[in-house]
Amino acid sequence: MMSVLYDNIGELVTNDTSVGDGSPLGVVTDAAILVADGLVAWVGPSAAAPAADSCVDVGGCSVLPGFVDSHAHLVFAGDRSAEFAARMSGLPYDGGGISTTVEATRNATAASLSDNLDRLAAELVSGGVTTFETKSGYGLDIGTEVRSLEIGRRFTPETTFLGAHVVPPEYRSARDDYVRLVAGEMLAACRPHARWIDVFCDRGAFDVDETRFILEAGIATGLLPRLHASQLGPGDGIRLGVELRAASVDHCTYATDTDIEALAAADTTVATLLPGAEFSTRAIWPDGRRFLDAGVTVAIATDCNPGSSFTTSMAFCIAVAVRDMGFTPAEAVWSATAGGAVALRRDDVGSLAVGMRADFIRLAAPSYVHLAYRPGVPLVCDVVTAGTLCRPTESRDVQ
Ligand code: NIG
Ligand code: FE
Repeated sequence: MMSVLYDNIGELVTNDTSVGDGSPLGVVTDAAILVADGLVAWVGPSAAAPAADSCVDVGGCSVLPGFVDSHAHLVFAGDRSAEFAARMSGLPYDGGGISTTVEATRNATAASLSDNLDRLAAELVSGGVTTFETKSGYGLDIGTEVRSLEIGRRFTPETTFLGAHVVPPEYRSARDDYVRLVAGEMLAACRPHARWIDVFCDRGAFDVDETRFILEAGIATGLLPRLHASQLGPGDGIRLGVELRAASVDHCTYATDTDIEALAAADTTVATLLPGAEFSTRAIWPDGRRFLDAGVTVAIATDCNPGSSFTTSMAFCIAVAVRDMGFTPAEAVWSATAGGAVALRRDDVGSLAVGMRADFIRLAAPSYVHLAYRPGVPLVCDVVTAGTLCRPTESRDVQ
């Protein structure tokens, strides 16, 4: 296999503390990176770069690991822009709009769901995402949940069974039956197509006992747990996630001091913050500083979905996390790359240490700081996945 040396990198973020400036981002200036067999083969200063079969001049730009979007809901149909507009006129977000998407998703063809995901995946890649997760949760019946996961699996190995998103309308007066269905027959049907199990543990969705019942059933089949917790109000979901050694508890908008202490003490569970959701629901900002100062591992993800956060832009999420959630630019970039990898329990992505998958992005900027400093500007100009340059910017028709 040919080796390629990417040279003349003005600022290289490696997330490898053993190289560079000793900071968590492991920044090397005037750097080069050697790629062979789709993996990082060498990293260091240009002046010490080894010979390679070919060389790419990066032009002094900033290069960083591809973003790892560890939380997204990408299999759905329909549009909820009117719901968003109503919220911006003062209506609150309570998750009630999920049923609108469930109806549209149940009525959609597999081909149209797949085409929609294809478009979103192209957006993610063009914005620098090289690993992403996607959930079911807009089917809420066995057939549509299985179909959603099958479609998701064609795009990513990180698929999550979220049959417990909300109780669907046909079970409103029999919620216990729905909880048993999710933890029984639906789980059995979805298990072959998923790596993870998730529950929306919040008011209006599932309580902590229901959440425990469903997650434990999933864990018993070999699925790995993660959960939505404390998005709409404080609750016991975050501590349940820690107790069950979930890979991640997501949202954490209303995390209490006790929740943060539990996360810090256990050190098994990432707190995944979702700036797009607070932005698009006009919610309070979770204070990232509290988590970071307590020593909690924090990830940032898009939560891309048609209701609460319809963005695929990790750069946007980084900018909001820096501006409104107390992150430094360095912390936000770490959380959107290495933090996402920890949240997905992946040890092959999220950093550019030797032996890692060669997933990286080139910014049309001299520093990663520009991701927050120049909000809304499409700075990601090249995306390399497993050593292969993607051409992500082809235009696509609107659905
Ligand atoms: O993560 N909170 C639960 N689920 C999604 C939103 C779903 C929707 O509104 O369609 C979220 O924000
Ligand atoms: Fe979500």
